[in-house]
Amino acid sequence: MSAKILDGKAISEQVLQETRQGVAEFRTKHGFAPGLAFVRVGEDPASRVYVGAKAKMCERLGILGQTFVLPAAASEAQALDLVASLNAQKNVHGILVQSPLPDGLREDAVFETISPEKDVDGFHPMNLGKLVVGDPTGFVACTPAGVHQILLRSGIPLAGRRVVILGRSRIVGKPLALLLSAKGKEADATVTLAHSRTSDLPAVAREGDIVIAAIGKNRFVTADMVREGATVVDVGITRVPDTAKKAGYRIEGDVDFATVSHKAGAITPVPGGVGPMTIAMLMANTLKAAKLQADPR
Ligand code: GUN
Repeated sequence: MSAKILDGKAISEQVLQETRQGVAEFRTKHGFAPGLAFVRVGEDPASRVYVGAKAKMCERLGILGQTFVLPAAASEAQALDLVASLNAQKNVHGILVQSPLPDGLREDAVFETISPEKDVDGFHPMNLGKLVVGDPTGFVACTPAGVHQILLRSGIPLAGRRVVILGRSRIVGKPLALLLSAKGKEADATVTLAHSRTSDLPAVAREGDIVIAAIGKNRFVTADMVREGATVVDVGITRVPDTAKKAGYRIEGDVDFATVSHKAGAITPVPGGVGPMTIAMLMANTLKAAKLQADPR
């Protein structure tokens, strides 16, 4: 049997279309655009590409994207000052500080300076706390939010089912566990958060009706770790040197797709699975931030 492919690219296009529509309505109602500020420090080539792609997506959707670049040698105080000035700007509804920051700048300190209302990355402890208590005015980090949308929009049932998440990171595993185990018709799953110290990880993973791999080790999840017919979501993106590719590398996920795709019932590919969803959720979070700031509850 070959698994059904969960097409993240197609699902991200649905989210982007809905967001574009929402942005147009927002602009008509308020007479100004939702605004998203990007902060980049230094000239890390990958960060330039990522921020460039996000800024282009803003343009496509009618969001006012602005990019602010600090030199690689910038001090932490300079980065904090820039964030503080963006916090105070009324036409900036969302702020994204691109990670990784150069050595010497504490990422947590910078992220925590972003006003929680503008934290469209969902990294601020206040927004993690809102996820814990189920406050819908919070922002969920884009990768876990994207995984959730892939499951919902693919019609994969969650209520009462066993989800095994591999990886307990603050950005993916932990928020995803909260999101999928929340009370409500779009969640209600029973979640196991497994990690590098879990005993007999393959046996734990085989308990999952849904297995979500977010450990950052390419091809880690093999067919023996997946129950027949399970849904498998692959969050991994590892660059593997490959001279046959123009870029000099290929992208591999955390799942050994060649073998697991014959055992799973449904699976996300890499690339074209979770990846495209993250940028779509960032756009959706920006619209949400603008609406909450324009019409506070
Ligand atoms: N670097 C890679 N992915 C991300 C992301 O989602 N947000 C931020 N701020 N930096 C990143």
